[in-house]
Amino acid sequence: MKKFSVGIIGGTGGIGRWFADFFRQEGHAVQVTGRTTGMDIPDLAMACQVIIVSVPIGVTSEVIRKVGPFLKEEALLMDLTSLKAEPVRAMLASSVSEVIGLHPLFGPEVPSLEGQNIVLCPGRGKMWLPRVRALLERNGARLVVTTPERHDEIMAVVQGLNHLNTIALGLVLHETGMKAEDLEKFTTPIFRAKMEIMERVFARPELYAEILTLNPHVGRICDLYEKNLAELRRNIRKGDAGGLRACMERCV
Ligand SMILES: NC(=O)c1ccc[n+]([C@@H]2O[C@H](COP(=O)([O-])OP(=O)(O)OC[C@H]3O[C@@H](n4cnc5c(N)ncnc54)[C@H](OP(=O)(O)O)[C@@H]3O)[C@@H](O)[C@H]2O)c1
Repeated sequence: MKKFSVGIIGGTGGIGRWFADFFRQEGHAVQVTGRTTGMDIPDLAMACQVIIVSVPIGVTSEVIRKVGPFLKEEALLMDLTSLKAEPVRAMLASSVSEVIGLHPLFGPEVPSLEGQNIVLCPGRGKMWLPRVRALLERNGARLVVTTPERHDEIMAVVQGLNHLNTIALGLVLHETGMKAEDLEKFTTPIFRAKMEIMERVFARPELYAEILTLNPHVGRICDLYEKNLAELRRNIRKGDAGGLRACMERCV
């Protein structure tokens, strides 16, 4: 594959740094920037054929609007944001370049792309999409192509409902006053697995807070969560095991 130059805004940390290492291992030239590190945005955009934005969700569109105007038609502007509709809209509006929205469905702790899911949302252009697909597929990633809107709807469940549930679990546990050390000798394997997930989520409050609050589809998921919790609570308060079982049997 022909080598290209990549500039990653937000490549000093997290998933941006992971992709910087990945592109370097593939033999591509990589420049990274952070808030206080690396080239300034216009210089980076002039120097690189591919610009990737991988900054916190809340500042993504602002960063895209800064870099977009400096990209040429034959360049690629891509983002790694956990939401897709707003960043892809911003990339299309602020540039004339090719555009791809990409969401890696894994974190920087994975050792390789082998077996990992990645969502691609093609935005504009025909030259870069096959190159990006070939590179990711050759490294074992499983790709799914969809629209940014459909991605966000599905993520409202995969991430929104999932993390909402984990955060609720953590908050309730905290209010019971029971500490991890009190529970340690009493835990089941499933509870231990849930505690590990909780620790991961509570270690990154800024990331998970943005994933939940900036996806417009998560509000509806919260309403459904509350409605279903209220029904469960009614059955539990009444001591109605049959009613609770009936709730569960609706799903199978
Ligand atoms: N972590 C994951 O598991 C994961 C997975 C998939 C997608 N994502 C997405 O990837 C993006 C980054 O998440 P992350 O977890 O990698 O975040 P992170 O670990 O906090 O890293 C953020 C990066 O952005 C830079 N940055 C922060 N504010 C900036 C600004 N205003 N202007 C320019 N650069 C800025 C930081 O650089 P300095 O600190 O050097 O300033 C750092 O390199 C998010 O959109 C997230 O939704 C994350």
